[in-house]
Amino acid sequence: MSYPFQITSPEAYHQAVQKSIQDPEAFWAEIASTFLWKKRWDKVLDWNFTEPKIEWFKGGTLNITENCIDRHLGQSGNKPAIIWESNDPDEHHRVLTYRDLYNKVVQFANVLKNNGVKKGDRVCLYMGMVPELAIATLACARIGAVHSVIFGGFSAQSIADRLQDAQAGFIVTCDGAFRGNKEIPLKSVIDDALVQCKFVQRVIVLTRTRTPISMLKGRDVWWEDEIKKVETMGNPDCPAEEMNAEDPLFILYTSGSTGKPKGVVHTIGGYMVYTTYSFVNVFQYQPGDVHFCTADIGWITGHSYIVYGPLCAGATTLIFEGVPTWPDAGRFWDVVDKFKVNILYTAPTAIRSLMGFGNDPLIGKDLSSLKVLGSVGEPINEEAWHWFNEKIGKKNCPIVDTWWQTETGGIMISNLAGITASKPSFATLPLPGIQPILVDENGKEIEGNDVSGNLCIKFPWPGILRTTYGDHERCRVNYFATYENLYFTGDGCYRDGDGNYRITGRVDDVLNVSGHRIGTAEVENAINMHAGVVESAVVGYPHDIKGQGIYAFVIFENTHDDEKLTKLDIIQTVSRVIGAIAKPDKIQFVTGLPKTRSGKIMRRILRKIAEDELGSLGDTSTLLDPDVVADIISGKL
Ligand code: WT7
Repeated sequence: MSYPFQITSPEAYHQAVQKSIQDPEAFWAEIASTFLWKKRWDKVLDWNFTEPKIEWFKGGTLNITENCIDRHLGQSGNKPAIIWESNDPDEHHRVLTYRDLYNKVVQFANVLKNNGVKKGDRVCLYMGMVPELAIATLACARIGAVHSVIFGGFSAQSIADRLQDAQAGFIVTCDGAFRGNKEIPLKSVIDDALVQCKFVQRVIVLTRTRTPISMLKGRDVWWEDEIKKVETMGNPDCPAEEMNAEDPLFILYTSGSTGKPKGVVHTIGGYMVYTTYSFVNVFQYQPGDVHFCTADIGWITGHSYIVYGPLCAGATTLIFEGVPTWPDAGRFWDVVDKFKVNILYTAPTAIRSLMGFGNDPLIGKDLSSLKVLGSVGEPINEEAWHWFNEKIGKKNCPIVDTWWQTETGGIMISNLAGITASKPSFATLPLPGIQPILVDENGKEIEGNDVSGNLCIKFPWPGILRTTYGDHERCRVNYFATYENLYFTGDGCYRDGDGNYRITGRVDDVLNVSGHRIGTAEVENAINMHAGVVESAVVGYPHDIKGQGIYAFVIFENTHDDEKLTKLDIIQTVSRVIGAIAKPDKIQFVTGLPKTRSGKIMRRILRKIAEDELGSLGDTSTLLDPDVVADIISGKL
């Protein structure tokens, strides 16, 4: 398969940008025409950012799995679709060809149907990084069910909140998951979540760790048994449900500046077109290449660049169950060597952590198959960029620094590997079809180059979120109400003399810890649930490996215990309420928090203290009690 929309020269990039701005509808219609539709659309784009209403390829019908799988069967049926590498280096890897993937997706789609899942139903997937997670995802899409994958690091409480919000009546999970030397008891976490979610009718459990679990009669069934039933039925086909382009494909929960995560909704047609287009162009995928994205399928990166983008492009995508540092810090390089990986897409936090192990883990690893390296999730610092370039890419592989968000569906700002120039710590230029603008506090456009501002997008692209599940107003307020007629990203940004964009970090109360998005309000709510906590304020601070660490200032009463143990209790509480990913790195007990006379916490001051920038605290005279600042500084960790 070749890609008619592949950009192969800098001139072609500039032409595509021109065309995408002058006539966006014609631009995207031409790209969309290369996909498999059951019925062509009536209108390419209908939109306004005030409601917001965004409809791409309206009237068109399709099934994304026919694009991901069926259409490759003729020419590429025997080509590997998924390569799976176990957590355990001694366990045999698995290869699923497109034909195998077809068979398994159809089979599991029938399992879902047999268990009562219907078009439009929400299905929660809480699994480890096994091929069955991709299979379950695609099986949902096959029958028109809406999947909501929850990352394995979230707690029972977080799962319950998400299940309730999405009213998901079905769950697919595993008994447990292997991650490095740990075993995560997934089913047991689900059991805890379901105490609060009586509406869940069915839990399908895949065997992975074969750890003892409870199986509730009438509710819980084994994946393997359900597959056998389909086999006894003679493995019937499962026709791909005819879906509207604007029907929801999935819900993915992500943190914002309020306490409650939002269910970002992506729809089928636009998401398919955008993830595939960006996958092929940013990574310059060539037929036969092995693509290794190290993200978890529980995050948007995994949805778009492990599952949908690569499979729609007929690519070979690698799923790795383990972690970069187990059994040792050479594991990524072993995987690259073993499968002759051509494209490696990872996160700055992983690069920084591996950098810390020095060059020994690289000895004897053949990385010569690598052609393209990618980075995502947070700004990549120059030191990490150069290490990645020199030690991994041997100065021979373009690095794409890809900026995007859960809400954007796919990569928005990035160089195109080997086509447009990279610049360390810059995401560089927008993809064709993406129209970024920088604005000041009042929403006034900041024109010209060598300027900074808040990053917004002024025109829709096919991958943009359509709503937040069950609460459209929340979507409007969060993304479309800050500045009139603009999608606001929440990021600050600098544009250099040549028009290259550099993302400088969030301008809202959202932290980016190891590339994971965590709302400060969410962490505060969790801390405040701990008995004895009176009030808390959470800010980020620079962390060598994680990018940002979580610093919590806590007012605590009645310690009957020593401080150290109390802090561990608070950490445990956060783990329970949100999950291990949100554990504070530092907790400082304070007697008061800096507040304005109206009672608002002055986070700016706390942030400066946590960042050790005491010289720039700013005016503290308007505080209710200016003395607390000196107290907090004296107790700084
Ligand atoms: C936030 C989105 C997109 C997949 C992973 C995270 C930050 C993302 C970059 C980058 C600087 C980046 C932004 C963004 N971010 N990529 N290349 N350079 N910052 O998805 O959880 O939705 O987080 O991650 O702050 O807003 P997410």
